[in-house]
Order: sequence, then C-alpha cells, then structure tokens
Amino acid sequence: MHSHGHSLALFLAVACSAAPLAGQEPGVPSRSGLVVTTEPFASDVGAAILRRGGNAVDAAIATAFALAVTHPAAGNLGGGGFMVIAPPHTDPLAIDYRERAPGRATPTMYLDSKGAIDRSLTATGYLAPGVPGTVRGLDLAYRRFGSLPWRELVLPAVKLAEEGVVLTDRFAQSLNRELADRMASYPASLRAYGRADGQPWTAGDTIRLPDLARTLRAIATGGPDAFYTGWIADSIANDMAIHGGLITREDLRTYQAHERVPIRGTYREYEIISMPPPSSGGVALVEMLNLVEPLHLAQGDRLNTETLHWLIETRRRAFLDRARYLGDQDYVDVPVHALTSKSHADSIRSAIDPTHAGDSEALGRDILTVRDTESDETTHFSILDRSGMAVSNTYTLEGGYGSHVVASGTGVILNNEMGDFNRKPGETNTGGDIGTPANLIAPGKRMLSSMTPTIVRREGEVVLITGSPGGRTIINTVFDIVLNVVEFGMSGREAVDAPRLHHQWLPDRAVIEADGVSEEVLEQLRAMGHNLVVRGRQGDAHSILVDRKSGIAYGINDRRSEGSKASVP
Ligand code: GLY
Repeated sequence: MHSHGHSLALFLAVACSAAPLAGQEPGVPSRSGLVVTTEPFASDVGAAILRRGGNAVDAAIATAFALAVTHPAAGNLGGGGFMVIAPPHTDPLAIDYRERAPGRATPTMYLDSKGAIDRSLTATGYLAPGVPGTVRGLDLAYRRFGSLPWRELVLPAVKLAEEGVVLTDRFAQSLNRELADRMASYPASLRAYGRADGQPWTAGDTIRLPDLARTLRAIATGGPDAFYTGWIADSIANDMAIHGGLITREDLRTYQAHERVPIRGTYREYEIISMPPPSSGGVALVEMLNLVEPLHLAQGDRLNTETLHWLIETRRRAFLDRARYLGDQDYVDVPVHALTSKSHADSIRSAIDPTHAGDSEALGRDILTVRDTESDETTHFSILDRSGMAVSNTYTLEGGYGSHVVASGTGVILNNEMGDFNRKPGETNTGGDIGTPANLIAPGKRMLSSMTPTIVRREGEVVLITGSPGGRTIINTVFDIVLNVVEFGMSGREAVDAPRLHHQWLPDRAVIEADGVSEEVLEQLRAMGHNLVVRGRQGDAHSILVDRKSGIAYGINDRRSEGSKASVP
C-alpha cells in the first residue's frame, strides 16, 4: 500500500464484502508486501527493509535478527531453523540451518547410570545445546538472494538491543518467570537479561541488551565469521570447557548451513512446498495431504465427527512413519520419495476403519519396545515482497529461552536442541519417546525437527505462506491450515482462527482446541474409541494468504499470540 488511506479503504471494502464471522477481520491487505511475525517491532523492522527496496529474503534476515532481541524466548542467534524461499519464476529452495551435535556427542550421553533418560540434561545447562546454525543460515540466504548491504540488515537489531525495547506485560512476565526459575542458576544469563537492580521487570520498563548489541554489531561488520571464529566463538567454547559442555571452537568453525531441495507435493491444483529432512515437517505434511485428498472432506463439515475421525487417523499413521523412518539424510537413508507418494497414501488409507479409532500400539508394534511435551517455544514468520517472492521461516531455541545458558559477555542464549534427538537407543514407548535408529545422536548429525515452514502455490503463484511453533504439534497445525485453504476454501483469517487438532501416534491421544467442536461430536468420537483431550491453544501460525482473484495479499497474524502483527511496507 502506498498510503494508509488507500489501504484502509481496501480493508473496509473487503471486510464488508467477505461477510466474515462476527468479530473477524480478514487480515491486513497489501499489494506491496507483508511481514507477519509474533512481535510488532520485528514485523516493523522487516517491513522497513521492504520499503527501502529490499526483497523478501533481505526482510527475513533483518526480521530474524530483530526477533533475537525482541522475542528472546525463541528468536535467536544461538539456535537454528529452516527457511523455505519461493522466488517468482524459479525453483523454490530451502535453507537448512539446523543445529548439529557436537563432535564429542554420543548416542547414550543423556542416559543416567541406570540407563534411563536424564531429561534434566536436555532441559537446561551446558550439555543441552547443539552447535548453533542461525547466523550461518541467514548468511547463506543472503549470499543466494540478498540485495541490500548485509550491514543494513543487521543494524536494526543492533539499534533495538542498544536503545532498548519497551516491555509489554507479556514480555515482562515471560522474562521474570525465566529469571526467577531456569536462568537463576546461570550468573551470565542473569547479568544479560536481569534488571541491573535485581528487581523484577514491569510493563513499560525499557530493556537494553548491550552484550547482545556488541555481538550483533560484530556480525554486522564482520559477517558470520565474527560469530563462528572470533571472540563470540571463543566465549561459547570457553564456557563449555569450564562447565562440562561439549561444543568446541572446532565445532563452531566447521558448522555449515546447507541449501536443500524442498519437499514438493500436490493437492489437486495446488503445489505444496515445504521443509525436507532433517525436518520431518514437509514429509509428514505431504503424506497427510495425500492421504485425505481423495476423500473430498469439504463435502462434509470441517468439524463433524467423520472429518475429525479421518483427520485423527491420518495423523496417527503419518506420525508412525515419522517415528519409523525420519532423521538426518546426511547420516541415514530416509525414504522420502516413497513416503510422499500418492501410492503410499492410498495403501494407508485403504487400511483405515471409517468407524473405529485405530490402535497406535498395534500399528507400531514392530518399533514399540516398551509399554508403559514437547516445548512450544519456536517462532515462525511469513514474508511476501512486491515481486511475489515468498519466505517462510521457522527457527527455534527448542524450549523457551533454550538451555537458559547465555555465553558470557555475548548476550547469546544457547539452544537446548539436543533433546530433539532420540535419546535412548532402542526404546520407543507409549509416552512418546522414540528410540529408532534414524534419529539417534552421532557427532555432527542434525537432530530431527518438526518445523514445517510451508509455501503453497497455484499455477506458479503464491497462495499461502505458513508455519508455526509447537514441537510435534507444528506439523498438525500446518496441516490444518493448509487443508482449511486447499480443501475447505477458507479465507486466511478463517483458516488460521479455526480450531486445531493434534495426534502424534503415541501417546495415543487426540488433543483438540477448546470452543470449536460441539460436545455431541466429542462424545461421538469417544464412542468410536478416540481418547480425546480438549485444551486451550495450539501453535502460533503467522501466515499470508493471497486472494487470487484480486491479487491482494492478506497478512494473518495468529491471534492466539497477543501482540503479533502483520506489517506493510
Ligand atoms: N525444537 C522443535 C523442532 O525443531 O521441531
């Protein structure tokens, strides 16, 4: 939009003609690009880059650096993630900047003396982090597509860290919980993120992060090597050596981000583009879409018993395949082609009983060895520029504030991504632990992810950009949103607002968002044998939907997250 007046007029016209549900707005319309993130400062940073003539990748880099300052629970320099890029008129590609296991990591490093998983070791502290990938990943995206000077993409984050961010209540509460609990054991973390007087933060305070500003300034002037070979790498490696962690200077120096060929699927006339291994997201998403495509679910209601039954059964099967086969393709053979084929979906579908819940334990008996939560803290943003280039980026520290460890003097919070590996070889249980070989720890290997940054196109034009945080729920959140658009023809706002469902094979439990599904439907599903749990909220899926008729793109912030924002240049 060139002027607010024009954009407001358009917004009102669309809001009236689309007859949205009560209280709904259709999203923020734009013909000149959009940046949709969980946090307003970062959305505005990205939009300012688009306004200066930067493309979607320039904006994504600036947005990712900004989120490391303004949303430190998940935005990061010390974690990793995935970026799917769809430039107009050329093949899409994916940037893999997932963390890797340090060179000294072993498959049993998280087992205690009795052979049980010691979950505390991947929840917090110096053994939890993988070698961070974010800065190399953003650099690789820049080298492929960047158009503005690198420095200009990092400096907005430097400014935010130096001049400070005014805390919202949500941000202040989040920091206070963190400082009083998990970070309390780490003096360097308290120094970096605590108030100078040791008091709790309150809404309206300004938080300045001078160490992080110095780190970001070094990256702005020295590029990624400043992080991976300079004083920042020294600080990380020294802290690791002192506190019994594994990451060395060599691990940091040799970290590389990789360009990957995205997973490509189809759903009737739509093209699905998503993240390949080491994420399980794209494979599982395409497998599930293939499974439901011939069912024409839109002939029934989105939330009726039959539809929900199929959608639970679809998830049960795809997550079993995920547990069985998926891991880092650089280390293990993953049958990506077979899993994403229509014929694989046909054979699974034909074995599903339309009237009864499947039996997760029986289906996975071959890998289930023991009969007996994943964190929500990741963040996703979607960007579209004026030329039609789309970026879908999900990155993470794994848990909120990752390992809770800040490398001394850097302001960099290190991830706890090692917990995404299978931690006990051979043990797959009904509680959700998986011990299959594909995702066991090995030096240099990338841990399996569920992040599912996704772009949907039709006749080569971008229709939808989406993704979400939420551990294994991510795949299901994205599946729900894509299905809402490609099968049920929902608007972007409806697709993102609609209730979401999660099932991950084991534990055998379907979790459904509250308020969307009638008691009667829940009872019918229970009578079919489904173990149903109703809960508050799943995911945080900041998305963009392009209306093909008008060519107008709508920025759809996910209103489950207070303060999320769609910004226009
Ligand atoms: N740590 C969340 C994921 O990668 O799926």
